[in-house]
Amino acid sequence: MSEAPFRNPGWAGNTGEFDLAEAEVRGDSYVGERPLDGGHPGASPSLPYMLVKKDPSAPLFEGPYQERLDKILDRYPTSRAALLPVLNMAQELRGHVSPGTMDEVASLLDLGRAYVRGVATFYTMYNKRPVGRFLVQVCTNISCNLCGADEVLAAFLDHTGTELGETSADGNFTVVEAECLAACGFPTCVQINSRYFEDVGADDVTAIIERLKAETGDARL
Ligand code: FES
Repeated sequence: MSEAPFRNPGWAGNTGEFDLAEAEVRGDSYVGERPLDGGHPGASPSLPYMLVKKDPSAPLFEGPYQERLDKILDRYPTSRAALLPVLNMAQELRGHVSPGTMDEVASLLDLGRAYVRGVATFYTMYNKRPVGRFLVQVCTNISCNLCGADEVLAAFLDHTGTELGETSADGNFTVVEAECLAACGFPTCVQINSRYFEDVGADDVTAIIERLKAETGDARL
């Protein structure tokens, strides 16, 4: 593995260069293919290098995903403890975690269906229904709200031509409100898929939307 510092492409803010080797950030026990831009620097090594086009009917779990599943199950003392990362993988493959997917995961981990549904529906990070190619989460909690989050949210809704929580007609955008995204020092914070955009003002929204549209051919998003 290269020891050269890698550039943060903006996944956790426009923070420029990190003076860390990739292995220092991600570890080296991952599986799958490394994305060209290095992937999410904050992700644990159990998370993927391989990102796929989301498909609601994709099988759970095959190929490298079976390998990752085995690694996750090795890492945790019980299948119950492995539930969250396994649900993460299911969402990564399918784009959302439907009741059917929850039942499949329950069966896979030998857990009760009601238990899995209770966990999956507790966390807002699991999409319970399909979302657009870009899930735009605008933080409207206190710090961001004081710095114009409502205007940012309105601008995203306006520019994507959609209603709050709905998906745009072209299938590209779902815009939702989020609670604190833990970037309170850089309001307004907007999370788009796994990428953070910080210090966002309503005037920045057009450029962000154009950038995303230009990236729609990029399967790594
Ligand atoms: S209040 Fe917006 S990131 Fe914390």
